[in-house]
Amino acid sequence: MSKVKCLNPIAACGMELLPNDYQVVEELADADVVLVRSASMHELELPDTCKAIARAGAGVNNIPLDKCAEQGIVVFNTPGANANGVKEIVIAGLLLASRDLIGGYNWVQENKGDPELAKSVEKKKSAFAGNEILGKKLGVIGLGAIGAKVANVAVRLGMDVYGYDPYVSVDAAWNLSRQVKHISNVEDIYKECDYITIHVPAMDSTKGMLNQDAFDKMKDGVKILNFARDILVKDEDIKAALSSGKVSCYVTDFPNSAIAGVQGVITLPHLGASTEESEDNCAVMAVRQIVDYIDNGNIKNSVNYPACDMGVCTNAARVAINHKNIPDMLTRFTGVFASKGINISDMISKSKGDWAYSMLDVSEVISEEIVEALSQIEGVVKVRVIK
Ligand code: MLT
Repeated sequence: MSKVKCLNPIAACGMELLPNDYQVVEELADADVVLVRSASMHELELPDTCKAIARAGAGVNNIPLDKCAEQGIVVFNTPGANANGVKEIVIAGLLLASRDLIGGYNWVQENKGDPELAKSVEKKKSAFAGNEILGKKLGVIGLGAIGAKVANVAVRLGMDVYGYDPYVSVDAAWNLSRQVKHISNVEDIYKECDYITIHVPAMDSTKGMLNQDAFDKMKDGVKILNFARDILVKDEDIKAALSSGKVSCYVTDFPNSAIAGVQGVITLPHLGASTEESEDNCAVMAVRQIVDYIDNGNIKNSVNYPACDMGVCTNAARVAINHKNIPDMLTRFTGVFASKGINISDMISKSKGDWAYSMLDVSEVISEEIVEALSQIEGVVKVRVIK
């Protein structure tokens, strides 16, 4: 029986995919798997039983990835599963930044009791006039699942789209409209674009990347959209840029006390992926990935361990080993089986940064003694008999 702890509510259509030998538990203490959306896991002590965490969403800044890797806990996310939901809200953000729909709506609400309202509308509406996005230049920083979708829709809306992503995946590149201009220096986006939308993960290397230095290089009156993560934009610097007029509007899904209420800021309460469809898609993807990992050892869409797939085990036994990415590990693993005269029928070993993952299918049932011998090898952090 595999125990699943949900730290946030996970959509029912995902939970229903858990096989019968999975049990949802209340306590984290002996969970095998954790499902999470936005709960912060940084202060949590994860039990030794924990093998995997799946985030139903793309961003993983609420999970201590290195600490998990050291405990042999594979962290999954669900890239692309909520991309359409976020794409749609970014397009709404583009329009909100261009037309004063919020000001206009508020004015009508404030004057709703006025019997002359229908007449005064025509006199007052010029206060809420705006611009069209057709023909304007949009810079998309980060062309992952969301950024690429935003870029493509913006092209179809008649915008002149500039895309920047030094790490763009082959899949994302194939799916990108050929009309998106490929930019290799982000400063060209700063210099050229009327609107800039950012779609990169929150990491040490991206923290505060939209700062005063970046704003100084931008066009006067540029509009900035941030539906990715708060820390990408330096609050104090964007406030200064708004007050000088360098930035004319900042639309963000990440309000905080420094920016909420500031003139020119439109904040939403992290609604990007809060659609029924996105929540369902993320839950289904998260649960499928977790079950494939627990039942077969396969890794797809992990952020701290490499992708690794050996299908379903048709041999007598399969062992999965989470370990450091250091020399000579495979020789040591195979040596343990050789010393017991056990034949290895298939194996795979992949690495990602400092961490690696190996699976070996063998011709005989794996004993406790073998598990113990593998666990003792320096650099091994978890050994799991899958079958
Ligand atoms: C994501 O990271 O997938 C989105 O920001 C939505 C979310 O956090 O759930």
